[in-house]
Amino acid sequence: MKRKLFPAALAAALWTSVSGLLAQTPPAVTPAPIQAQTRESPLFSARASQFADSVLKLMTLDEKIGQLNQSPGEGSQTGPRAPAGGEALVRAGRMGSFLGIWGADYTRGLQRVATQESRLKIPLLFAMDVIHGFRTIYPVPLAEAASFDPARVEFSARQAAVEATAHGLHWTFAPMVDIARDPRWGRIVEGAGEDPYLGSSMSAARVRGFQGGDSALSIGAPDALLATVKHFAAYGGAEGGRDYNTVELSERTLWETYLPPYEAAVKAGVVFVMSSFNDIGGTPSHASDWLLRDVLRERWGFKGAVVSDWGGISELIPHGVAANRGEAGILGIRAGVDIDMSDNVYIDSLGAAVRSGRIPQALVDSAVHRVLRIKYALGLFQDPYRFSDVARERRYTLAPEHLLASRLAAREGIVLLKNSSKTLPLRKDPRTIAVIGPLADDRRSSLGGWAADGHPEETLTVLAGVRAAVGPSVKVIYARGSPVDTADTTGFAAARDAAAQADAIVLVLGERESMSGEASSRSSIALPGFQLELARAVFHAAKPSAAFVQTDTTPKPIAVVLMNGRALAIPELAREAPAIVESWFLGSQHGAAVADVLFGDYNPGGKLPVTFPRVTGQIPIYYNHRNTGRPSDTANHYTSKYLDLPSSPLFPFGYGLSYTTFSYSNLRLSSATIGAGDSLEVSVDVRNSGDRGGDEVVQLYVRDDVASVEEPVKRLVGFQRIASRPGDTRTVTFRIRPESLALYDRQMRRVVEPGTFTVYVGTNSDDALTAHFTVTGDVLVLAPPPTRFR
Ligand code: BGC
Repeated sequence: MKRKLFPAALAAALWTSVSGLLAQTPPAVTPAPIQAQTRESPLFSARASQFADSVLKLMTLDEKIGQLNQSPGEGSQTGPRAPAGGEALVRAGRMGSFLGIWGADYTRGLQRVATQESRLKIPLLFAMDVIHGFRTIYPVPLAEAASFDPARVEFSARQAAVEATAHGLHWTFAPMVDIARDPRWGRIVEGAGEDPYLGSSMSAARVRGFQGGDSALSIGAPDALLATVKHFAAYGGAEGGRDYNTVELSERTLWETYLPPYEAAVKAGVVFVMSSFNDIGGTPSHASDWLLRDVLRERWGFKGAVVSDWGGISELIPHGVAANRGEAGILGIRAGVDIDMSDNVYIDSLGAAVRSGRIPQALVDSAVHRVLRIKYALGLFQDPYRFSDVARERRYTLAPEHLLASRLAAREGIVLLKNSSKTLPLRKDPRTIAVIGPLADDRRSSLGGWAADGHPEETLTVLAGVRAAVGPSVKVIYARGSPVDTADTTGFAAARDAAAQADAIVLVLGERESMSGEASSRSSIALPGFQLELARAVFHAAKPSAAFVQTDTTPKPIAVVLMNGRALAIPELAREAPAIVESWFLGSQHGAAVADVLFGDYNPGGKLPVTFPRVTGQIPIYYNHRNTGRPSDTANHYTSKYLDLPSSPLFPFGYGLSYTTFSYSNLRLSSATIGAGDSLEVSVDVRNSGDRGGDEVVQLYVRDDVASVEEPVKRLVGFQRIASRPGDTRTVTFRIRPESLALYDRQMRRVVEPGTFTVYVGTNSDDALTAHFTVTGDVLVLAPPPTRFR
């Protein structure tokens, strides 16, 4: 049931309704986990298993394979529909699930076909990429990660699940948790960035949010949305940052850096895993029984189902490990891919493979068993329509409380990169404000990619946000200036005029949402098009009498707002712009959240989840690198560095400023010496030493100083986002457990080794207080080696 809303009135209505709520409602983030249905996960209950056994006995081989078949819907004027011939396949028992089909009414209709017109009346599953919201859109995952606030992220996912399930959906293809150390890779926007600890926290938070609680206990509640952790595994390691490319990794780095966030999702009870398009060192994931069985099921105890990525099974042919679709299907099911997304390989070829004895029937049966258990756990055999509820759909679509939460989440994801001479916050009472730039009024980009059923016309841009914040008494001049990525300077004159006339300038630059995401890698991560030239022109026009480099002292405040789905290399902007606000793509309330920050209604506290390089050629650059035998030293030629660049990044991981200042002191440890199995407390005092309330993300890193293998120079092992008032001193305490100190030794055992460790606590990965402690005794083995990669 779609609400009819009209763009012009809409921006104002969205602003007013949410601003009103904002004034009344304390921005609580305590997620409201839905009532656990049982004490045991319904997915793994004996009843679900017996039920699946009994249905399996009734099924023909073709009907079984049908349950493993998933087809995409097609767009139409009235919304998504089953593809041509889709209903007939449902009737014939040859379709287990659809992706990209939703709507309470329409899913009800299809479910009726499945449960009344097919022989065995097995209900369908409806899946979709609900990545950062369904109709209300929350910040893109990279921006959510920048909040360093898992409770907030869990809450956004919870609301997205409420909205999506009300539209008949059972299942989302999220969270994507691929670690990415190369911002050329466009899909970095869909994940939590470069760090395994932050990535794992976000991964678990989003699984809990979608599924409605811990350990999958809530599955079966009508607003629990089944989650899929993807893309398993190491898809973000694509060589050269080129999407779908080969991944070449050491086994150690795979375990240390890339695998933890998937494992965190499994521990949080994720129901689905999606295999990834890439190969790792020659083994494509869709054919990797090592990944899908040894690691996932044996080592981590995963009991849910594995879905292929779109067409991933037949891509085993171009990978060069299958000669034809039949062989690809055999490789897929043998490796452990249960559901075939959009490929028709399983329904076309698995039957013949079983009949000819090339694969045992039991392989198909166990995959079907998993699918049936999931359908049973959702309660669909009792009531196939329980998710297709028109009243809930009407109640939750763009619900005011969802828009409010989206705005709160959006504000938390904003990172203040620069603020010379307190340029920000801006005053709300100038005579004139210029809002300039190709993204300033781009609704689609504000939403961000993978925006499910998000409507651009229901989205607040920066221009709309500024207008609403300052009200009708301030003149707002808008000039687009230039396109995002083409060489066109015809708009420069108007931009210069606007800059010259205005008392304050907001310049919105960056990337369109379609410049990151799937198949959207870039070879350069510089500001695209002529935007840097536009910035120069605006800075110059704002202060025509001074040289460009003097802008830091300009009396006319200029704030650059960046919109982008990756780290950008912006050395000149970082030098010349008086203030820079990193806003990523923040969803439905993008412009409102940015305006809250620009005018000081909210003090930004987000931090970078990815390192910002100076130039593209510095990639890969990430904070948790190994030290090498010749760490970079400007005074020594023969050390690891470039001739033409400093070794440091432009902005380090964990970086972000505030309108207030925080001072760290009194770092202390509960003990200077611990045994390998012991924990340790680390405390620090954080004083709000400025004149405003604000949030700080206190970060904890460790380093094993001397180990049997070369360890990263530091690793994030804890963080806390705290709020404080001016003058407040907060003591922040972390507990370091053996798991935080562990490494994979040369035998690939997970161990804590005795020796000295350094602790770093601070405001970013490069600015921290340090302390030391010693682990005594013998090596502690936390886990035996995994089976060797194959
Ligand atoms: C993407 C997945 C996505 C799937 C279904 C694929 O192309 O890689 O992340 O879930 O499409 O839309």
